[in-house]
Amino acid sequence: MKTILVTGGLGFIGSHTVVELQNSGFKVIVIDNLSNSRIEVLDSITKITGTKPNFHKVDLRNKKEVKNFFDLNIIDGIIHFAAFKAVGESVEKPLEYYENNIGSLVYLLQEMRDRNIDNFIFSSSCTVYGQADKLPITENAPIKPAESPYGNTKQIGEEIIKDSCNAHKLNAIALRYFNPIGAHESIEIGELPLGIPQNLIPYVTQTAAGIRSQLSIFGDDYETPDGTAIRDYIHVVDLAKAHIAALKRLLNKDNENNFEYYNIGTGKGSSVLEIITAFQNSTGKILNYKTVERRTGDVTAAYADTTIANEKLNWKTEKTLEEALRSAWNWQEKQSNNHS
Ligand code: UFG
Repeated sequence: MKTILVTGGLGFIGSHTVVELQNSGFKVIVIDNLSNSRIEVLDSITKITGTKPNFHKVDLRNKKEVKNFFDLNIIDGIIHFAAFKAVGESVEKPLEYYENNIGSLVYLLQEMRDRNIDNFIFSSSCTVYGQADKLPITENAPIKPAESPYGNTKQIGEEIIKDSCNAHKLNAIALRYFNPIGAHESIEIGELPLGIPQNLIPYVTQTAAGIRSQLSIFGDDYETPDGTAIRDYIHVVDLAKAHIAALKRLLNKDNENNFEYYNIGTGKGSSVLEIITAFQNSTGKILNYKTVERRTGDVTAAYADTTIANEKLNWKTEKTLEEALRSAWNWQEKQSNNHS
């Protein structure tokens, strides 16, 4: 049985990936500093899978803590989620973002090098493409100058990994996520945004639940069929499964290069207005919304060409947008019930 370290394994994507790893027969060790996650998620994962992952509270910014962890644990591969992820906040606090997202990555890679640990999966983002010139976006699309320190940490992160793969015996895959949404069907785990949600779907579900009075559509004057911006919304469980596929590719030594990167999306773009309509249709809830100014830094449209990921990872999405939106709503309802 292979032992996989999942950093940030109690977060939104991390927790869903831990579930899929355990369901696929891997032994999982989670490290998380609980800065944007809750320890209760460990029990939720246990409820879903019947197995409690091994957990260590480790702050990856602390080189000594990281070294101590690796002194005590034998690892076959790492899936690295732990990072800050708020675009706006990264503009206000760039150094915190570089310290956390880049410093941690370097410490992990140094331990891998020193202990001959192979197999690294990195959480990257479609943000590396900026506003792509051609849609859908293929992996060959040029990397545009980053719009935010957050985006820059993903670009720099990929370069650091590539250089490490060239210099040391390391194999890595970066997964460039499009927009992850939804929750596990058990509604034991889901997204837990702190404070006012920045992302569309949590804002939609909180508006439907009456926590927010009105949803703002950020701009309806984009060059798209209905004027609102287009994104590729992928069910988080489909996204989690892409990590298992990528890990197996590395463990089976099927990878053709020591550093590979793949787009992980559905291949289908949806506008903000289409999301609102699909949400209303799939949940029966009516949303109160208005159009406001565009949000700074937003691109017009981004959706993935997933041909290469489908073929090389032997992976494809299985869930529909409606299922994803319904699961997000079921999750929201559960949170609302817990707090009422
Ligand atoms: N939007 C609204 N109202 C809201 C929130 C969002 O209209 O209240 C719109 C945005 O303008 C955008 C779309 O909904 O057009 C999606 O916005 P999200 O914030 O949900 O997602 P983004 O595409 O902006 O962000 C995602 C990831 C980031 C990543 C970024 C790169 O969450 O990690 O893509 O563009 F950096």
